Amino acid sequence: MQFTVFFLLFLHSVWGVKDYLYKSCDNSGFCYRNRHFANQIKSKDDYESRYSLDIDTLSVSAGQLSAIIVKELPNNLPAVELPLSITILDGGSIHVKIDEKRDKKSFSGKIVNFNRYDEASKWAFQSKTLSSSNSSAVIEAKSENGDAFYEYSFSDYSFKFELDPFKIIVARQNEIQLIVNDQNLLNIEHFRAKSENKNHLTPEESDFDSFSDSFADAKDDTIPIGPESIALDFTFNNYKYVYGIPEHADSLVLKDTTSSDRPYRLYNVDIFEYETDSRMPMYGAIPFLLASRPGSSLGLFWVNSADTFIDIDKTSDVGSTKTHWISENGILEFIIMVGSTANEINKKYGEITGYTQLPQLASLGYHQCRWNYNDEKDVLSINSLMDEHRIPYDYLWLDIEYTDSKKYFTWNKDTFPNPERMLKELDHTDRNLVIIIDPHLKTDYFISNEAINKKLTINTFENKPYYGHCWPGESVWIDTLNPSSQQFWDKQFEYSKRNEFMGRLSTNLQIWNDMNEPSDFNGPETSSPRDSLHYDLWEHRSIHNVYGLSYHEATYHAMIKRLETTKRQRPFVLTRSYFAGSQRTAAMWTGDNMSKWEYLKISLPMIITSGISGMPFAGADVGGFFGNPSKELLTRWYQTGIWYPFFRAHAHIDSRRREPWVPGEPYTSIIRESIQLRYSLLPVFYTAFYHSSIEGTPVIKPVFYESPEHLENYDVEDQFFIGNSGVMVKPVTEENAASIEVLIPDSELYYSFDNGNALPNATTVSGPTSVTKSVDLHTIPVFLKGGSIIATKSRHRRSSKLMFHDPFTLTIALDKNGNAKGKLYVDDGESFDFENSGEYLDIEFELSNDSRSITSRVISSPNNLAKELVDVVFEKIVILSDGYLQDYESASVEQNNEKKAISVTTEGKLITLANSKISIISDWVIKFGEEDIVEDIKFDQVNEENGLHDEL
Ligand code: NOJ
Repeated sequence: MQFTVFFLLFLHSVWGVKDYLYKSCDNSGFCYRNRHFANQIKSKDDYESRYSLDIDTLSVSAGQLSAIIVKELPNNLPAVELPLSITILDGGSIHVKIDEKRDKKSFSGKIVNFNRYDEASKWAFQSKTLSSSNSSAVIEAKSENGDAFYEYSFSDYSFKFELDPFKIIVARQNEIQLIVNDQNLLNIEHFRAKSENKNHLTPEESDFDSFSDSFADAKDDTIPIGPESIALDFTFNNYKYVYGIPEHADSLVLKDTTSSDRPYRLYNVDIFEYETDSRMPMYGAIPFLLASRPGSSLGLFWVNSADTFIDIDKTSDVGSTKTHWISENGILEFIIMVGSTANEINKKYGEITGYTQLPQLASLGYHQCRWNYNDEKDVLSINSLMDEHRIPYDYLWLDIEYTDSKKYFTWNKDTFPNPERMLKELDHTDRNLVIIIDPHLKTDYFISNEAINKKLTINTFENKPYYGHCWPGESVWIDTLNPSSQQFWDKQFEYSKRNEFMGRLSTNLQIWNDMNEPSDFNGPETSSPRDSLHYDLWEHRSIHNVYGLSYHEATYHAMIKRLETTKRQRPFVLTRSYFAGSQRTAAMWTGDNMSKWEYLKISLPMIITSGISGMPFAGADVGGFFGNPSKELLTRWYQTGIWYPFFRAHAHIDSRRREPWVPGEPYTSIIRESIQLRYSLLPVFYTAFYHSSIEGTPVIKPVFYESPEHLENYDVEDQFFIGNSGVMVKPVTEENAASIEVLIPDSELYYSFDNGNALPNATTVSGPTSVTKSVDLHTIPVFLKGGSIIATKSRHRRSSKLMFHDPFTLTIALDKNGNAKGKLYVDDGESFDFENSGEYLDIEFELSNDSRSITSRVISSPNNLAKELVDVVFEKIVILSDGYLQDYESASVEQNNEKKAISVTTEGKLITLANSKISIISDWVIKFGEEDIVEDIKFDQVNEENGLHDEL
């Protein structure tokens, strides 16, 4: 069974979140007030919106509409002016902003930036200006039944801008897709003095917690500007399923929240012992929502970094989804994207916020972490045990205990007396180290003293350094919104002798940013007080959800500078807190999960949601952070974790050791085989990341992205594809599973990785169908979709770097017409040469049944890389045919004008072309049934010199 061998070779119950620590809608002033407002409006049939567009202020130019939205006030108060701009972006997206004209004179005496925060976009967008410069979009004035409106058309879409009340209606071929302000929930709480508040309230409004906060530990909030929330509703017409808005430990498809006091909430918090099936806030926030159904998709990006609640109403009987977005403050800003498929939306969203970085290839390998590896000896012993047990890995991690008393940028000299030596030792086996650096800085040591002296800390509402508590005890926080913090941060990471901490360490060192929500153990909702101040006197409440991003970006840029001095490696930064745009510079993980089956299960929709939301480099702690997994759970977690884009095992300081060799046999061998399978598939993951980095395709891709024509696929959250490779996975996440249901999402063939057989019924059914597959502890249900070609590597090495020169195997899975296509991306795996000088190989494969040939075309033109890869070959081609390919008894390969015979063996429906030794760097063609073979080449062992021994 050659094929089997080939793939085998590859191959406290009392815990629970303390929810009273975190605000619900009912005890969050701005959320309560907006829900109240919404309920009042919904209960009135004759409600007339107070928001309309003043036609006299309206101006239209190519690609832009601007006007004043007028908010009528009661009691003869002058109307509030809300400047509106609508910009048409490239690709037909629309960018809407609504600000408030505020009279500075009416506000005095407080140290705070009085404007509405309008810089969430500065952090989220990849460039300052969105590309609309070439837009010549025509916005036409029209009227219907005497009502004036404006309209812009793009492809078969129309965007109608209604004036009174202000609404936007997006239609495609006259079918309404989306209505903005459908329910008249537009609400902008304008500035008013506390003494005038009552006078400014309309009958629909409440004044609950407008100038004070009655929530437990938030009572000290001075709320200097008073109520300033913004809210708006969006109806996704005829869209049953909406997705995104991470981070929540919840299902893939967003749930109805109308009968709960906890709508989906985006407020980055260090949520202790989070629960599954929950809409509570977590560590990260991406205010991006995708609506998708066969044929059409929509994206909504709510560009706001303040505390945000999102109500989802799925009670419509026509299968529409109504959403209500409520943020504490800031300008009201959003972008609408339209497209036929979900992936088109991801592409447009990526053009705005940037695509994921292409990570170092090594960072796609296995990461071994725990809180903590205690000392240098421990680290080096883990490193050797990995070899002893033939477990490949790339990164070993050090949690906070490596420091001297949690003072970041110091080493504990007793336990880590010689980090330079340790790093070199790891480097010797081509492995890397990651160390943690958190944003809280213990008081009274050189780093925090300097940050305070240079005025680079987060400050109190009186603009004095803010003192809170975190791991080290009393701490101050670096304010990475302050541009001057970058230089200070750079200095700490500098590769130079004057930097005692890491200046001399070899560059196989990368960084983990944790606790950057920011987590403050004594702060309200375990974070910074909302009235604390950042650079430019912005209140923390305005910037809260971008703080984490600003922090990990500062680290990334500091690491870029460090690595520039040496060999220009791509930095690897892991962050716990994130925002839209974080994908440009960091990977994320889902924080402190638990060693329980439900956390294994929920990791999949969480990571898939992250990918849908533009942040594909995501993972969950393998094994679970809190507690001790059973051997079965640990094994199943590895078998699932190998599919996480970011694959790291991690454990709490109180948990028992659980490195892969700890559970013993048969578990250790099964875990080893799983990790080896991940390594053999690294080219598939790397190729998927490459596509994600240029067009936003999720790395673990939902089933409905692959087969969007069937609505049945739209709520599948436990099965997925790896990018566009055709690799489909259904991890086993049930205890004692003896069988699982695998969904065949379309009428294509799906070949099983373990025996090469196609799943039954695939071609005879017209839509998605389930098949039952029996499983034992060894089984990882993996399939290759008919029509796909993947490139893998099958030599087992210690780490990914040692695989660089290893030969590839091509596996071709024929579709029902006997054809297949695939892609492979290769570069040096660590530098920016791919970006700066085109040093990458982009290869397209195709097997055509008609011409009975396999072709490989290199569609890029690398120079130095081609020289480095000159000895790298395809050594074997395996064809999963299910009988679709005829005439394959003989074959020849032609490359660089040379033609050679290659040997063909068949076993059942499996065809293997061996001893082919075809170079990867130039085009080639294999033809079946060729007679005129020139020369039969001998198979000789392909270069094995780079591995230290055969097996590893
Ligand atoms: C919290 C993180 O989520 C966890 O992964 C880490 O081990 C601890 N902080 C200690 O640094």
